[in-house]
Amino acid sequence: MANDPASESFEMARLSGVDYKTHFDPKIFLDNYHTKESRFYDKISEMLHELMAAAEIRDGSRLLDVGSGPSIYSVISAGSRCSEIVCSDYVTQNLDEILKWVNGDPDAHNWQRYFEYVCKLEGKSDDEWKLRQDHIRQAIKRVVPCDVHQENPLAPLVLEPFDVISSSLCLEAACSDESSYRSAVKHVTSLLKPGGILFVVGIQGETFYSVGNKRFKAFPLSNEIIESAYAEVGLTNLRWCNETCDSKKYPFEGLPYDMSGLFAVSATRTDVTASA
Ligand SMILES: C[S@@+](CC[C@H](N)C(=O)[O-])C[C@H]1O[C@@H](n2cnc3c(N)ncnc32)[C@H](O)[C@@H]1O
Repeated sequence: MANDPASESFEMARLSGVDYKTHFDPKIFLDNYHTKESRFYDKISEMLHELMAAAEIRDGSRLLDVGSGPSIYSVISAGSRCSEIVCSDYVTQNLDEILKWVNGDPDAHNWQRYFEYVCKLEGKSDDEWKLRQDHIRQAIKRVVPCDVHQENPLAPLVLEPFDVISSSLCLEAACSDESSYRSAVKHVTSLLKPGGILFVVGIQGETFYSVGNKRFKAFPLSNEIIESAYAEVGLTNLRWCNETCDSKKYPFEGLPYDMSGLFAVSATRTDVTASA
């Protein structure tokens, strides 16, 4: 019964790992989280904007987004200075959704609200969002499979290390415990140039979240776990945006999840141990 999506026990089962390939539905995810106005995602945009404003990213940089899902909001800030963006995810259907958006397919998700909000945070004029959207569309050059549990998450592809890597709400979903989280951080960092910047958005203290009637497991992160994992791979110069809050602060109707906080952190790769 647990494998029958209509059953009650299925709703309670906590999915993870390879389950993403069969049970993560991009359309339901987009409908659940990225259709209505949401203070949760506004807050994430604000955090990314704040970290970006303090970061030194050269024009023409190359950006990799890890665990993009079917979403592109996480590259709107950093992508403004990048001439090449690569989006990646574990689930092929998610990559197809991004490709639809890049190709201007009429069935693609509409990200206008996110572009408008980031441009507003940047103090840009009202119609600037269209230019940013055009820029991000043409800068996304590749949409590729990724598995943060592989030594080279983009294998079999081997790409030049990136100037900037972003990742939003992925690692706590992809990892089951501290050991797999530490390894995933190491794998992702190996794709960053020495001197490159990593931007990660995440949820702390989360054990599960919902997509439609399905529940996915999450690994409950803390600042301490993140700091220790980053130190191990030579990620330094950490800048934090932290908000302590539970899921009641950011309710999603009919979509239970838990958390003790929301964070964004940027860090610089200062040595080469991650690829050793
Ligand atoms: C909560 S969703 C976040 C998606 C998107 N970044 C967003 O914020 O809208 C978690 C994402 O992690 C991806 N994921 C799960 N396991 C992964 C793995 N081993 N490697 C890379 N991505 C993974 C899932 O496919 C899913 O797209």
